[in-house]
Amino acid sequence: MIRILSGIQPSGVLHIGNYFGMMRPALQLQDEGEAFYFIANYHALTSLRDPALLRENVRRVALDFLACGLDPKRTALFLQTDVPQVTELTWILSTVTPVSRLELAHSYKDKVARGMAANAGLFTYPVLMAADILIYDSDVVPVGKDQKQHIEITRDIATRINEIYGDVFKLPEGRTQATTEVVPGLDGQKMSKSYGNTIDIFGEEKELRKRVMSIVTDSAPVDAPKDPDKSTIVQLYSLFASKHELAEMRERFEKGGTGYGDFKKQLFEKLWEYFAPMRKRREEIQRDKSYIDDVLAQGAKRANAIADQVMARVRKAVGLT
Ligand code: ADP
Ligand code: TRP
Repeated sequence: MIRILSGIQPSGVLHIGNYFGMMRPALQLQDEGEAFYFIANYHALTSLRDPALLRENVRRVALDFLACGLDPKRTALFLQTDVPQVTELTWILSTVTPVSRLELAHSYKDKVARGMAANAGLFTYPVLMAADILIYDSDVVPVGKDQKQHIEITRDIATRINEIYGDVFKLPEGRTQATTEVVPGLDGQKMSKSYGNTIDIFGEEKELRKRVMSIVTDSAPVDAPKDPDKSTIVQLYSLFASKHELAEMRERFEKGGTGYGDFKKQLFEKLWEYFAPMRKRREEIQRDKSYIDDVLAQGAKRANAIADQVMARVRKAVGLT
């Protein structure tokens, strides 16, 4: 059976870009093997310095993931910090990681370009991510496109260790969904919490409607034909609608006679309906006070059992025992 592993940072509220880019593919993979999904709270410290907010986000990500269909009977859900051995492995891996490799990481360069402080944690972030992956002997790692380079770095580090110390690590394979392109935000740029252009999965109805109605469009009048290929509305609608419904919206764009406001309403109704069963599940989970803690404790137990074995192998291989 293959082992599937992925992580998500609790650095904010989950949005539909996260859902289609990472969560849905990860949830679908639950059927294909033994899945381990964790909440990357060590990683979140590189950008979040508010302890109360970090704690709240962690709970919320766990709740949202479970509401969206993570099945704890099959899949282990746990906190990164419940397996502190990853920080030890990070140190060991960092001793074979060329600084020049980390200097080329897009994610690091982008974050610094956007004004984040270039702290050592942000710089070595991919090494911690490599440890997250290698400590579970992971086969497949579902991630969004922007994380692909981090998987390549992981493979390089594992290869380097294997060259020096013999066969220590399994080489993991990244899996990005070819069908899920980057989900655009309200302004047409990549949807991201740092751009303030998100549609949250579990936003409140009034607020979500307002946000959908604020999607940026050109100023074509109601009567004019509109280009569906240039429209954020159509791109977002395509995530939720059937082929037939999508073709129908595209036709109405090209024909003219419908204003953007009406298309936005249609999009809102569709997305609200799409997440309805998950909202219901979310309410049920919230009523059971100990459910999330129990799931996380169970997940941590399973994750630790594997991490302990792999770390024993690593320590022995490098000469730390
Ligand atoms: P954000 O950009 O909001 O900070 P993260 O960087 O925390 O989101 O991303 C978490 C996961 O969600 C990653 O696997 C990432 O690839 C995926 N993801 C984030 N935004 C999008 C998007 N707009 N389209 C597709 N996938 C996305
Ligand atoms: N860096 C990932 C992100 O920002 C989160 C992450 C941390 C991760 N460790 C991981 C993803 C290990 C996959 C595997 O989205």
